[in-house]
Amino acid sequence: MFNNTQDNQQATPQLKTDNIPAHVAIIMDGNGRWAQKRHLPRIAGHKRGMETVKTITKVASDLGVKVLTLYAFSTENWKRPHDEVSYLMGLPVKFFNDFVPDLVKNNVQVRVMGIKDQLPVQTQKAVNDAIKDTADCTGMILNFALNYGSRLDIRMAVQQIGRQVASGQLDPEQITDQTIDANLMTGFLGNLADPDLLIRTSGEERISNFLLWQIAYSELVFTDVLWPDFDRTVFEQMIMEYQQRDRRFGGIKTSK
Ligand code: IPE
Ligand code: IPE
Ligand code: MG
Repeated sequence: MFNNTQDNQQATPQLKTDNIPAHVAIIMDGNGRWAQKRHLPRIAGHKRGMETVKTITKVASDLGVKVLTLYAFSTENWKRPHDEVSYLMGLPVKFFNDFVPDLVKNNVQVRVMGIKDQLPVQTQKAVNDAIKDTADCTGMILNFALNYGSRLDIRMAVQQIGRQVASGQLDPEQITDQTIDANLMTGFLGNLADPDLLIRTSGEERISNFLLWQIAYSELVFTDVLWPDFDRTVFEQMIMEYQQRDRRFGGIKTSK
């Protein structure tokens, strides 16, 4: 009671601006359940989820995140009903139409990883235009995983390395972790390829074929909040949880 101010400070952790995760990856989940709860069609959840992407991109960029990787569509999501898939394929067109000017204003560079040539042509065009229009931006990288699957990513890297071995360019004994890193779809991120923080919304606690190699030492943080309800406050709370973790990488605790 006498130490009220001090107690309050201890009870409310503050976001530390000097320990922001450089690479944040998010499995944006729960759009369908958000809509179902409101007796709306699932696509209403995807529409609202797109607004969350805009909000969180801005927040992440303001906080100083260097790479924000968002899982937007998995190689398994083609199993969904045709109408839902075609709505999801139209979203990048809407999203980039609305949002590229803001991205440029905020110096955010768009990248996309996944099998682009299986996407409808309008989606490919929207994605390619956004990449081109933001190519000179030097701030945060907004990296969409679109038609992405980590086993596919790993399989393609293995094939690529196999071709280099078969042609005599590469000795199998010389294959290192760095060889594999460089041949994965995150290779262009260099030393930022591995997420520091992986978030999944909606209460599911699984990876669903996302960045399997890259999350070897990521901090995993889960929330029950559905993606359309995710906001700055929840995001900052999750970063604060990350900041309380002791990342040891197999070593021992270092004094801070
Ligand atoms: C995430 O929300 C968006 C995509 C996977 C494309 P879901 O559509 O998976 O929503 P739930 O999990 O069914 O609630
Ligand atoms: C993972 O969510 C894929 C994306 C967020 C794009 P899903 O909703 O597809 O994953 P599962 O089916 O619940 O594992
Ligand atoms: Mg889901």
